[in-house]
Amino acid sequence: MIKVSGLTKSIATATHRVDILRGLNFEIPRGQFTAIMGPSGSGKSTLLGLLAGLDSPTSGSILLDGEEIAGLDEDRMAAVRGRKIGFVFQAYNLIPTLTAEENVLLPYELNGANGEGRERARELLGVVGLLGRADHYPVQLSGGEQQRVALARAFIVRPPILLADEPTGNLDTANGQKVLEILVEMNRKEQATLVLVTHDRELASHADRIITLRDGDIVADELRA
Ligand SMILES: Nc1ncnc2c1ncn2[C@@H]1O[C@H](COP(=O)(O)OP(=O)(O)OP(=O)(O)O)[C@@H](O)[C@H]1O
Ligand SMILES: [Mg+2]
Repeated sequence: MIKVSGLTKSIATATHRVDILRGLNFEIPRGQFTAIMGPSGSGKSTLLGLLAGLDSPTSGSILLDGEEIAGLDEDRMAAVRGRKIGFVFQAYNLIPTLTAEENVLLPYELNGANGEGRERARELLGVVGLLGRADHYPVQLSGGEQQRVALARAFIVRPPILLADEPTGNLDTANGQKVLEILVEMNRKEQATLVLVTHDRELASHADRIITLRDGDIVADELRA
């Protein structure tokens, strides 16, 4: 499902070159829940951004479902992203001028789909416990509620790959727990491949596998019982 080979990311500053990722190799089978851990600055968000095609690698290959995304141009990457990837970041990135329901529908409409979208949007708002808030705008929602809208939005096109970068980082324990439950449910029910970046050992303990990064290298890769 995801196959990464020789993946590097370096950034040239005025005075020197920073090697952020130093040649990563791993494969994540369909439906696996993988947690990415590691200290601050170890390259976790950079890796997730590359998997999402939000940024391009310096070298190496990223296959999603056998399709090479390293080096795709912006338009083709956007098309792959629309079909295959749902992502949830710490900043919710909801569109302030759209209601909760319209925010959830957006990726669906960007994909050119029509038809049962509204129904699915309402079903997902139900899953995240916000059906009663469908007509509310982001400013009218708490941080935890906004994060749940962002989750519903990530799921609307039934992406086979879910990428989440500290999705519970800004939330209290109860909301964080709820977000994790929703992610795990989508992972199980829809067989979505889930890659979750977290600092939280408790959160990571729910994963099938934990990959640990340090200074841009994989220093541990453990399958869990
Ligand atoms: N545009 C950039 N220019 C220079 N350095 C960068 C750039 N983007 C990231 N870095 C550096 O790359 C390293 C990895 O950053 P990254 O955001 O991937 O870390 P992280 O593991 O997600 O950390 P955190 O846990 O704090 O979110 C850091 O040292 C960061 O300073
Ligand atoms: Mg990060």
